Amino acid sequence: MEATTLSLPAGLDRLFYRSADEFFPAHAGLSLTYDDASLATLYSEILPREADFATQLAPGLLLQLPVVSADMDTVTESRMAIALALNGGLGLIHYNMPRRQQLSEVSRVKNHVHGLIREPIKVSPDQQIGDVLALIEDKKFSFSTFPVVDQSGVLLGLLPGQCVRPRFAARAVTEAMIPRTEVLTIREGELGDDPIARADRFFTDHIGIHKLLVVDADDRLRGLFTLSDMERITQERSLRTKPSRDGKFRLVCGAAVSAPRDASGMPDLPALLDHVGALVERSVDAVAVSTAHGHTLGVGDAVRAIRGAFPALPIIAGNVTSASGVEFLASCGANTVKVGQGPGSICTTRVVAGVGIPQLTALYVCSKAAAHCGVTILADGGITKSGDIVKALTLADAVICGSLLAGCPEAPGQIMEINGKFYKQYRGMGSHAAMKAGSAARYGHAKDSAQKSAAEGVEALKEVSASADTVLAQLAGGLQSGMGYLGAPTLADLRKNARYTRITAAGMRESAPHDIIEVKTGNA
Ligand code: XMP
Repeated sequence: MEATTLSLPAGLDRLFYRSADEFFPAHAGLSLTYDDASLATLYSEILPREADFATQLAPGLLLQLPVVSADMDTVTESRMAIALALNGGLGLIHYNMPRRQQLSEVSRVKNHVHGLIREPIKVSPDQQIGDVLALIEDKKFSFSTFPVVDQSGVLLGLLPGQCVRPRFAARAVTEAMIPRTEVLTIREGELGDDPIARADRFFTDHIGIHKLLVVDADDRLRGLFTLSDMERITQERSLRTKPSRDGKFRLVCGAAVSAPRDASGMPDLPALLDHVGALVERSVDAVAVSTAHGHTLGVGDAVRAIRGAFPALPIIAGNVTSASGVEFLASCGANTVKVGQGPGSICTTRVVAGVGIPQLTALYVCSKAAAHCGVTILADGGITKSGDIVKALTLADAVICGSLLAGCPEAPGQIMEINGKFYKQYRGMGSHAAMKAGSAARYGHAKDSAQKSAAEGVEALKEVSASADTVLAQLAGGLQSGMGYLGAPTLADLRKNARYTRITAAGMRESAPHDIIEVKTGNA
């Protein structure tokens, strides 16, 4: 029998799975969000783990992971910003706190030395071993070796764990401690560019020593490295994305600022520049002029003033959802524009004001303007899973996450238990409570009238989640899978390769686990 060869109609894939410039204009007038579209797979020569998702947000602001934590008072203070930077991203410290506190939060990130315990538990020379045993019992410490310091913090010796036993309870700490002259220490200034490598080398060179004490020029105790921490960190280093660091090897950190107004309601630019100047003195890597409506005279003036005073400082500004909004902020001097009005999990802007654009369309429109103006964009809000990040990054340079990080132990706020489950507070910066605490200007209201203004956010709870390290590793893994499916070794390739198709509610239902009884949930 004669074989028949069927040839495929040319351009079949192209007809059904369209590039951004074909897909979005074909839906002009109908705005889409992440769950309205899916990405087509493409021929690939890369393994997901080979995908490199570094992103340059502004000159001098390179992230290894395109994830930024939201500048919200239930998401980002120094602990979260440190976790983000260590995982290659960027944390934006919120501004619902006194300025002095925001400055010290930034300093904590900039001075953070991974693995260095800055405030080690110390004992004093007038204590007895029995006191130390009581301390261990009371605080449930899992370690029993302690530096001994005098009242001004000067190192006197090291109390070794093998002496901290009930049989020695009545003996003085000074009797049991290794005297200062025999304790090996390192000066803070000798830690160099890579303190972990330095400490790691010390432990290799000094067999049997498990603690390295760090002192300043006056021999005051400044911190402590432990061998077990070093071993864990060096192991993790080979696994995870490189940290985001500045030119001096410090972690990167961003901070949000508002566009303040004086008593008469006029923009208070001197106060703003004073604030930004203080942040720059603390070596902040970027400031974010964060407002709900960035395409306004007030935000434009604020960005222009900051650009004029600090020509090299990366400026993030927003939020907008239109090409003209991006163009405006770019012309005022912003390097990176936040895109998103109303997509956030705690946002009610669309309900309250009837305003906002579903995120995927907003990103497409803004990405065209950004390319034209030479700025980058951040997809801000509405990210609920790693697949959303992949879709967002086909158009944006990085994403901002609030809700995905708000349940992590690194987010500010207490854990509360309700019916046997554990939660953390997560609230919109436009909620009454947050506006009262300082964010009213972000929504165009005065702080003292915040209670009477229409709230644009809700107060909510997030179930406590894994650590930020774990959450970010899962998001990074999902992003790499997406890049692998699209044959994209870099984010630039992801943007170039992306092919979209519109999906229906039935298609969306098919996209998530269905028709099963789920016994174990997925990661992302
Ligand atoms: P997700 O979805 O990650 O969104 O929780 C975080 C983003 O939401 C924005 N945001 C708000 N938007 N009212 C709003 O309309 C609010 O109260 C509010 N608080 C935060 C913000 O852009 C954040 O990054």
